[in-house]
Amino acid sequence: MADPPLALLAELTHRCPLACPYCSNPTELVAKGAELDTATWARLFREAADLGVLQLHLSGGEPAARHDLADLVRAAREAGLYTNLITSGIGLTGARLAALEAAGLDHVQLSVQGVTAEVSDRIGGYRGGFERKMQVAAEIARLGLPLTLNAVMHRDNLDDLPATIDLAERLGARRIEVACVQFQGWALVNRARLQPTPAQVERAKAVVRAAQERLRGRLVIDFVPPDYHSDYPKPCMNGWGSTGLNIAPDGTVLPCHAAQTIPGLSFENATVTPLARIWHEGAAFNAFRGTGWMPEPCRSCARREIDFGGCRCQAMAILGDARAPDPVCRKTQGRAALDALLAAEAGHEGAFVYRRA
Ligand code: SF4
Ligand code: FES
Repeated sequence: MADPPLALLAELTHRCPLACPYCSNPTELVAKGAELDTATWARLFREAADLGVLQLHLSGGEPAARHDLADLVRAAREAGLYTNLITSGIGLTGARLAALEAAGLDHVQLSVQGVTAEVSDRIGGYRGGFERKMQVAAEIARLGLPLTLNAVMHRDNLDDLPATIDLAERLGARRIEVACVQFQGWALVNRARLQPTPAQVERAKAVVRAAQERLRGRLVIDFVPPDYHSDYPKPCMNGWGSTGLNIAPDGTVLPCHAAQTIPGLSFENATVTPLARIWHEGAAFNAFRGTGWMPEPCRSCARREIDFGGCRCQAMAILGDARAPDPVCRKTQGRAALDALLAAEAGHEGAFVYRRA
């Protein structure tokens, strides 16, 4: 039997006022009318806690688009879950933040698209967004809620990394996640436009190393590198079906946010099937669990329990085969396809395809 999951990512809604071209939501978004209601989410939070989940990430879309957000936080706390709100900040006022804090919210993860209004509003596709975010950050600080700044980085803003780290310090964040775009969902549509250059990646690594040294004890800096430029893949989801699960706005339970791009997997809905049964017995969760599914060279590789063969959805997107090792890995034949893609798409200019309903 699988170990219990540690974390649940609850995608409360796919609605969002922003239109970021790197959004990890699927290109087929769930409509408002299909979203789970308050009571159903509250029941799922209790089921998740009973299953062993400790951390709940309230995400979207923009979770503040849900008017019942404070009720959901309260329900999660009553279930004994640690609650983290992942938000763009748009739609949050001082009064709503105070209500969330009163309901028991533990932590806020605020996204920034850039360090100036010009860059931030252009990338987010939302005029006035940067100013709103700065006001929301000030309210979060005033309430004393722990804050992580979530900076999604790509070719258009990676050179602003030093200023982004300065911004996290100025806003009183305890942690910044420098998250280079992972190419799933809308980001895959915009991959050529978002892909950083190798020189940018090297500069960013040096900036992160120096800042981690300089800010030790004051600001935690987590770096998610752009994995196409790495030698080995990331341990996506810390191994499929090992640590976390996602619930989509309509109750579909997913092993990762892009799992629906893998043909042949079938997904169950938590409104019909108990979460514990889906986690332990669901066909999708067992499809790539552990190491038994692995082909060579992963099967006999010393890193097989470090990166778990990488990301199944990335193998699907690039090689058309979810069972193949992640093509980021330099030990695999698939790497040639990824290098060819990088060469073909290098320097691509053109318009963003913004996320839209
Ligand atoms: Fe990871 Fe497989 Fe590459 Fe080994 S061969 S490093 S397990 S992707
Ligand atoms: Fe699906 Fe990585 S996003 S396994």
